[in-house]
Amino acid sequence: MKIIIDTKENVAKRAAQRYVELLANKPDAVLGGATGSTPVDLYKELVRLNKAGEISFKDAKSFNLDEYVGLEGTHDQSYRYFMNDNLFNHIDIKMENTHVPSGIDIECPEKYDEEIKAAGGVDMQLLGIGVDGHIGFNEPGTPWDSLTHIVELEQNTREVNSRFFSSIDEVPTHAVTMGIKTIMNARSIILMATGSSKAEIVKAFIEGPITTEVPASILQLHPFTEVYLDYDAAALLSK
Ligand code: GLP
Repeated sequence: MKIIIDTKENVAKRAAQRYVELLANKPDAVLGGATGSTPVDLYKELVRLNKAGEISFKDAKSFNLDEYVGLEGTHDQSYRYFMNDNLFNHIDIKMENTHVPSGIDIECPEKYDEEIKAAGGVDMQLLGIGVDGHIGFNEPGTPWDSLTHIVELEQNTREVNSRFFSSIDEVPTHAVTMGIKTIMNARSIILMATGSSKAEIVKAFIEGPITTEVPASILQLHPFTEVYLDYDAAALLSK
């Protein structure tokens, strides 16, 4: 794992440069998308670069990590809505090339892995991290060989995410998420974490044992993972 530590603003800018490089070398790259508050600044920077003509998504494809079960893409807390609103509506990607798992059509979630494979596999997967170490919505205990599947959300995750809803009762109880294996299949991975609330879990997944109790710890075994941290998130790292 390569660790990059900088200010919150610079972390977003430096991660955005990875997209510039990737798409310059491979204009039809397959991008793995993430939601949450962490990637918002990165997406703003990608929109700026796209408008400035420094990056083009016109031949790119994207596959997002996860979605709440039961929310239509038009719901303002669905991850499809988030992606359209924060990124896709503002860049030159073709909407038909963007994929977010459906939270409504959930009969065969593993079909999503087939679609990713058919598109050539993910070139660069973006990740945030939950305070319990979840990536996508793979909560502690998720098997390493999991493909896209339905999960029951931990109460703690629902509480943390309830800040986006009017009450915790409105936070869905289940989600569909790429599995750990789906994520590990990506050719390269960028994990971003900012803020002091992530400092403990950042230390645990980078310096602690590789354990299903800390899902992100498996990234220690991925050959091309970069971790972008601001100073607060990196505060407890020993090296
Ligand atoms: C959610 C998402 C994750 C995300 C995490 C952290 O649970 N499913 O993909 O990484 O939250 O979110 P934030 O960036 O808002 O801290």
